[in-house]
Amino acid sequence: MSAARRNVELKALDPDPARSLATCRELGAEDRGVLRQRDTYFRTRTGRLKLREQEPGGATLIQYDRPDEAAARESRYRLTRVDDPDGLSASLDAALGTLVVVEKERHLLLWEGVRIHLDSVAGLGSFVELEGVAPPDSDLSAERDKVARLQHALGIGEILTGSYSDRLLGTDALIAAAREAMGRAHAPYSRFHVGAALRAEDGSIHAGANVENSAYPQGQCAEASAIGVLIAAGRRRVFEAAVIAASPEVCVPCGGCRQRLREFMPLDGTIHLCSAGGERRAATLEELLPLSFGPEYLPA
Ligand code: THU
Repeated sequence: MSAARRNVELKALDPDPARSLATCRELGAEDRGVLRQRDTYFRTRTGRLKLREQEPGGATLIQYDRPDEAAARESRYRLTRVDDPDGLSASLDAALGTLVVVEKERHLLLWEGVRIHLDSVAGLGSFVELEGVAPPDSDLSAERDKVARLQHALGIGEILTGSYSDRLLGTDALIAAAREAMGRAHAPYSRFHVGAALRAEDGSIHAGANVENSAYPQGQCAEASAIGVLIAAGRRRVFEAAVIAASPEVCVPCGGCRQRLREFMPLDGTIHLCSAGGERRAATLEELLPLSFGPEYLPA
């Protein structure tokens, strides 16, 4: 079995990618060009597993493990070349399930053994990553030192925890999905456009919008639509929800939708109440629906 490789790495938001590129060039970094990468993350018990399909470059299976710390940190990883990415992806999806797909353009530069990634990630924005790749016998101090020097030169302040997949799966992503669904609402009668997004037990996000009807009582709330999408995708539990309306006030779920969520959500699950302008409030289901009736009251 191949031994894990190690590196020291950090990731940060990049408010000005053009300036970062200019700084890299001033430092004399070697420009390796722009790569298009599509990373499919699979569900795992520990660590992370992703299939990277890269142009130019082909496909690689990447297994890695690293602590989620807001500092330059050690990562251990294994790389395996893949000849049949479609076949492997289908097998891993069937066995483990797919968590999320991350697509990005990566401008790769090399400086004294440190890989500099200027990444533009679909749905997330621009980031800079530094990876000081370590030889097997390294105590990592040289790599830490080089990464710190580059961090200073690039003016990197706050270091981010978690991977791109975590960010895509995080609360911002949930709210973004609700907002996107809101944009597709069919609400010609109330003109009150609502979007809802639900995170299922495997981290996947399912979104829906309100769908009104000229026979008014036949209209459906956004939460009900989202629940239908989640159930149709084969999921059964909701761990986090977001509701947003095209209104200056944060959107609160109607009484009926609180009960609908109660069917699938634990009482301590969080519901993010959001406004079109970006205001948000978090509440647990129990706060929105105290002393509630649920499936456990019915005879088995
Ligand atoms: N609406 C929702 O979609 N969710 C709620 O929780 C509150 C209300 C929709 C239903 C209707 O299409 C419009 O908002 C006005 O009531």
